Amino acid sequence: EKGGYDYFMLKEIAEQPKAVADTLLGRIDGNGRLTLDEVRIDASALRETDKIVIVACGTAFHAGMIAKYAIEHWTRIPCEVELASEFRYRDPILDPRTLVIAISQSGETMDTLMALRHAREQGSKVLAICNTNGSTIPRESDAVLYTHAGPEVAVASTKAFLTQLVACYLVALYLGQVRGTKWGDEIHSQIRELSDIAKQVDQVLETMEPVRELARSLKDKNTVLFLGRHVGYPVALEGALKLKELAYMHAEGFAAGELKHGPIALIEEDLPVVVVVPSPRGRDVLHDKIVSNIQEIRARGARTIVIAEEGDEAVVPYADHLIRIPATPTLLQPLVATVPLQVFACELATARGNEVDQPRNLAKSVTVE
Ligand code: M6R
Repeated sequence: EKGGYDYFMLKEIAEQPKAVADTLLGRIDGNGRLTLDEVRIDASALRETDKIVIVACGTAFHAGMIAKYAIEHWTRIPCEVELASEFRYRDPILDPRTLVIAISQSGETMDTLMALRHAREQGSKVLAICNTNGSTIPRESDAVLYTHAGPEVAVASTKAFLTQLVACYLVALYLGQVRGTKWGDEIHSQIRELSDIAKQVDQVLETMEPVRELARSLKDKNTVLFLGRHVGYPVALEGALKLKELAYMHAEGFAAGELKHGPIALIEEDLPVVVVVPSPRGRDVLHDKIVSNIQEIRARGARTIVIAEEGDEAVVPYADHLIRIPATPTLLQPLVATVPLQVFACELATARGNEVDQPRNLAKSVTVE
């Protein structure tokens, strides 16, 4: 049942191109427009939405953080992202014009379920993004967009995360399409780019051997740090979470701009720091700033592990290890940038002799609050 792989996690990492393609299937019509009729939220309700609140836990929360960048950019609707476990305890401001999006692979996470119940009590509409047909979260939501990752068995989420991202992009672009923002052309081109992305995930998977080798060489380290900016920041958090769960190492993700506000004090000789670099073709400031962050940490002794787009030469002089990913639009980069981090964590866990599919103390779905 592991399809020839040693672990479900490896199988699920390998299934990502298909999971991504399946989640797009039937949702883009021949004219390159999105058709999400299955979601059953009428367009007039979406036109009236004046705020979006995303609730989720763990990896699904990281997908939500990335969704915020896409939603606000493409739709101009203010969007908040909140850990489901914090949400209802702070008396959030919700009303019928708030659209709450609950993201959950299992559809059974108690924190997320309680958050969505709270939102519905306040009269908000809830859209679930979920991987499990007929599970509790979609049953209790007003609408559901299913991810088609197929069953995910390994405790550490991989393919479900990529499909959650695809679903979030679809929702963001659909909102843009329905509401007709000034970004009409961009929305059109992003839909085209999204339909190509499965191939690029596949390309990343084909070039992972050096990442595995690097992971094995770090097996006796105690700490790994992860840095990113913009959508690379949640990717850094996700890379750190994978490493904690699987390798039981101290791993932390930071927004690269926060470095000088504290975390840079952690940098010492030979400390591995993974840096997710945004596309140099996107907003130049973002890229240039992160290149100077890499210089800063390297000058203080960090061992830099740089994830950067093909053709980005500016990072080369400062990268002790360079992991190449295909060029994508900035907002879609997490779909390719996360994959090496999954492979990295899985290989490190294996090298440390840990149980990859069933990490200690964790359950696949957390059905208690
Ligand atoms: O089933 P859910 O997506 O609601 O689960 C949420 C988290 O428990 C889950 O993503 C967890 O963080 C994973 N083990 C991460 O790999």
